[in-house]
Amino acid sequence: MSDASNSGSVTITLDGTNKSSRAPLVQASVGPAVADIRKLYGDLGIFTFDPGFGMTAACESKITYIDGDEGVLLYRGYPIEQLAEKSSFTEVCYLLLNGDLPNEGQLKQFTHDVTMHTMVHEQIRNFFNGFRRDAHPMAILCGVVGALSAFYHDSLDISDPRQREIAAFRLIAKVPTIAAMAYKYSIGQPFVYPRNDLSYAENFLYMLNAVPAEEYKVNPILARAMDRILVLHADHEQNASTSTVRLAGSTGANPYACIAAGIAALWGPAHGGANEAVLKMLGEIKTPENIPDFIDKVKDKNSSVKLMGFGHRVYKNFDPRAQIMKETCHEVLAELGIKDEPLLDMAMEMERIALSDDYFIQRKLYPNVDFYSGIILKAMGIPTYMFTVLFAVARTVGWVSQWKEMIEEPGQRIGRPRQVYTGATNRDYVPMGQRG
Ligand code: SDX
Repeated sequence: MSDASNSGSVTITLDGTNKSSRAPLVQASVGPAVADIRKLYGDLGIFTFDPGFGMTAACESKITYIDGDEGVLLYRGYPIEQLAEKSSFTEVCYLLLNGDLPNEGQLKQFTHDVTMHTMVHEQIRNFFNGFRRDAHPMAILCGVVGALSAFYHDSLDISDPRQREIAAFRLIAKVPTIAAMAYKYSIGQPFVYPRNDLSYAENFLYMLNAVPAEEYKVNPILARAMDRILVLHADHEQNASTSTVRLAGSTGANPYACIAAGIAALWGPAHGGANEAVLKMLGEIKTPENIPDFIDKVKDKNSSVKLMGFGHRVYKNFDPRAQIMKETCHEVLAELGIKDEPLLDMAMEMERIALSDDYFIQRKLYPNVDFYSGIILKAMGIPTYMFTVLFAVARTVGWVSQWKEMIEEPGQRIGRPRQVYTGATNRDYVPMGQRG
C-alpha cells in the first residue's frame, strides 16, 4: 500500500517564496492515487510538464486496470487470463461496454444486436475502387470507417444514449466487415457478405477466406484462436490510440470520426504497427545465428534499431497478454500440425537472449502483446499487412467503451493540454530589405 493511501493531499511549494498549492489526492480502487492539480496555475502561476503523459492521469476510468510492475491486466476487474480461457470476444465486448458480465438473456440480445449490424451500406463498396490494389489496408480502414458518418445520420447525436448505443453496435459490427473487404480488395477477390449464423470470430475468418466458387467451413481451432486474440487486444486503458479517441471525442466529434482517429494512431510501428514490424524484423534477421549481431545493433545508442515487440510504457514486467499469446502460438501450431515454425524458434531464441542481457534487464524490457501475435496470425494464413488491421478490429470495442465513458462523464470538457513556450519573445516585423 503506498503512503498516498494514508494522505489526503500533496502540497507543492514554490521554493524561495511563501507560496504553495494544495492538491487533493483522488484515491484509486486499486493502483496509484492521483494528485488533482487543477488549482496549481491559479495558486502558483505554473503548469506541470510531462511530455508523453507518462506520469499524468488524463481521466478517471472504470474499464481497464494495468499493474505494469506485477504484469496484471483486468477488464472491469476480471483478470485477462480468466477471460482469455473462459470467455468469448462477444461477451468481453458486453463486459467492456456495460461494466459487468451479461446473463444468458443479455448475451443473446447483445449478440443479436451486433450481428444485425454486420452488413455495410451497399454504396460503401464504391469507396474501395478509389484505392490502389496495393493500398495498405490500414489506410482503407481509416478512410472507410471515417466515411461511415456520411451514411448513418441516425446515430450521430452523441447526446442521445440510444444513438450512442446504435453507433457502438455499428462500429463493433462493421469494422470486421470493412477490414475483410480491405483484404479481399488487396487480393482481387470479391467481397464476402457476413453471415448471421456465425460467431464474431468465425464471421471474420469467413469474410477473410470464403470465395463464391465453393463452400467454406471455418476451422474451429482457428476460430477459437482468433476469438482469444481479439479478447487479448480488446482494451488497454489509456494507450496512444485510446487517448486519441478520447481527445477527438471530447470535441463532440461523431463516434465514427473518433474511431477513425484511433485507427490512424494505432497504425504507428511504436504502437499497433509493431506486430507487423516484428515479422519484418524476424525476416530480416533470417537465422538464429544472426540474433547476437542484431541485439548488438539494438544496444548501440547510435543506431535507431529497436527490438520490435519488446518494451512497454506501462509493463515493466511480462505483458500478461504476451504470455497467453505465446501459449496460444504453441497450441495453434500443434493443432495445425506445423511441427517446426522457424519464426517461432527465432522469436523464442530472441526472447531467451534478450532476457539474459543486461541492456534489457536494466530497462525492464520484456516481450509485449505484439511479439508473438504475428507468428500465430501468419500460421493462420493471415498476411503480415493485415496484422494491425486485426488489432484495430479487436480494439474498436475498447475505443468505443472509453469514448462512451468519456461522453457520459458528468462535466465532460474538451481536452486541451498546455505547453512550456521556449520560442521567440515578442518582436516587430522586419521588412524584406532589412533582413539578413
Ligand atoms: C502496444 O500503451 C499501450 O498500452 C500499447 C499497447 C496496447 O495494447 O494498446 O500495449 C500496444 O503499443 C505495445 C508496444 C508495441 N511497440 C513495440 O513493440 C515497439 C518497440 N517498443 C518501443 O518502441 C518502446 O518500448 C515503446 C514505444 C513500446 C515504449 O516506449 P517508452 O515507454 O517511451 O520507453 P522508453 O523509450 O522510455 O524506453 C526506455 C529505454 C530507452 O533506452 P534509454 O534511453 O533509457 O537508454 O528502453 C529503450 C529506450 O531506448 N527501449 C528499447 C525498446 N523499448 C524501449 N530499446 C530497444 N528495443 C526496444 N523495443
